[in-house]
Amino acid sequence: MAPTIEQRFDKLKGMRQEALAGGGPERVAAQHKRGKLTARERVELLLDPGTFEELDAFVKHRCIDFGMDDKKVLGDGVITGHGLVNGRRVFVFSQDFTVFGGSLSGAYAKKICKVMDMAMKVGAPVVGLNDSGGARIQEGVESLGGYADIFLRNTLASGVVPQISAILGPCAGGAVYSPAITDFVAMVEDTSYMYVTGPSVVKTVTHEEVSHEDLGGPWVHARTSGVSHFVRADDAACLSLIRDLLAYLPQNNAEDPPRLPCEASDDRADEDLDRLVPADSTKPYDMLDVVRRVVDKDSFLEVHAHHARNMVVGLARLGGRTVGIVGNQPNNLSGVLDIRASVKAARFVRFCDCFNIPIVTFVDVPGFLPGTDQEFGGIIKHGAKLLYAYCEATVPKLTVITRKAYGGAYDVMASKHIRGDLNYAWPTAEIAVMGAKGAVEVIFRGQITAAKDPAAEAARLTHEYEEKFCNPYEAAALGYVDAVIYPRETRARLIQGLDCLATKRDKNPPKKHGNIPL
Ligand code: HXC
Repeated sequence: MAPTIEQRFDKLKGMRQEALAGGGPERVAAQHKRGKLTARERVELLLDPGTFEELDAFVKHRCIDFGMDDKKVLGDGVITGHGLVNGRRVFVFSQDFTVFGGSLSGAYAKKICKVMDMAMKVGAPVVGLNDSGGARIQEGVESLGGYADIFLRNTLASGVVPQISAILGPCAGGAVYSPAITDFVAMVEDTSYMYVTGPSVVKTVTHEEVSHEDLGGPWVHARTSGVSHFVRADDAACLSLIRDLLAYLPQNNAEDPPRLPCEASDDRADEDLDRLVPADSTKPYDMLDVVRRVVDKDSFLEVHAHHARNMVVGLARLGGRTVGIVGNQPNNLSGVLDIRASVKAARFVRFCDCFNIPIVTFVDVPGFLPGTDQEFGGIIKHGAKLLYAYCEATVPKLTVITRKAYGGAYDVMASKHIRGDLNYAWPTAEIAVMGAKGAVEVIFRGQITAAKDPAAEAARLTHEYEEKFCNPYEAAALGYVDAVIYPRETRARLIQGLDCLATKRDKNPPKKHGNIPL
């Protein structure tokens, strides 16, 4: 006899309950004991309440080897679907460690690919919540193929829709390459780690003894490798960060970022800015102070805060508009450009350009870092990445030179010559080929050694050079800066500049793609 309607509905109800249970109460309890939320709890926290639309909840793996045919869990270890974040559509996948350790099967990969394909069709961001033991070992190469299908989609979606990865548990082996291709990686303290090969393989191959944490924990990736852009204390804080981050971004590359209302009273002229740069140009100050005083109140979200701290990058709002901030940090290594700082800023500049986010650059840079470490490490090609990124960027580019803009670094840091749209300098700006002392030693060496009092002669020539070149007026006379402004005017000038440039259209020559010096 055919089942009744009630029986059919009961079946659906039962299956839904079974899918909600994931790997069962014991594994859920173990997950909680580790300080981790379950995959489903994470989705609930990420999305606006009640907006999650799950897809493929009844998908099962197809493996029959190693006794897997009688171990099937509805949903197969990953929860996928879409919902709203701050009222805007987002696609999400959340790996469920309670089901086969969150390991990836062929069927599981197809679920992820489905939401990625939908996100591309409708033009909405993808958030991946990673917590997985990697390839489903029982499935062999089918799992590897599944990863490759995801990597391909990550790559094709890059620059089309924003992609954000949270690492909330293990992420090892080739699995790391999906988050690595996405725009932002956020990790959680104590529970997350990422590495290509784990401690035991490292020990066998290189004889190094290293813990999970020291090899691939969040602080290693935030400080040293730069793989991770953010570290948060726990899952809830990490998911809240992702909600905040999405609020700055457009849904896709064909849209402008959302604009928030900005109170007219917030058109402040911060007079403390006038005294922020020390009179002695060898003294440090904090570029973050400058940034926070210029942008809308409490709107600065620093990205990569712990990596290459001689460079500051982050998202902020100016007059309610999203902007990408790039700034040399005189408080760290005098704000010098080195390999890490160049790569960090280059990637960020390219991200902003992909997603129509104007770039505001604050310049105080003594030049590129000299030394064999840097030369052998390829500062030439890495510095070129930043130059290339700024050159190719067609979004509005606004630049404020607060103090030093020396040498090649002057050109690189969004100068007028590489299509800076509005370039301002503070009266404290020093725009020159190099600092006065170095310059005098090169061009007046003979004159100094021949002098009766070489030290006095060097001091006199240094002073003369400073008078002539260590100011913004030579550059202003050539039109290389559009205006020399009081620091307190910076916010208003930038807001007006963004208004003016809101309709900017600029193009690069048609090509398949450029060949950025990787
Ligand atoms: C199948 C897996 C699994 C996997 C874990 N499990 N990883 N099942 N395939 N890759 C299962 C375990 O058998 C266990 O099942 C449950 O998940 C929880 O795992 P535990 O080991 O009990 O958890 P824990 O002690 O927290 O250790 C987590 C772990 C460990 C560090 C991730 O499970 C581990 O080392 N797993 C293997 C990692 C790995 O080598 N993966 C393949 C990497 S190569 P039961 O039933 O007992 O609860 C790879 C290639 C990708 O990923 C290439 C892409 C190009």
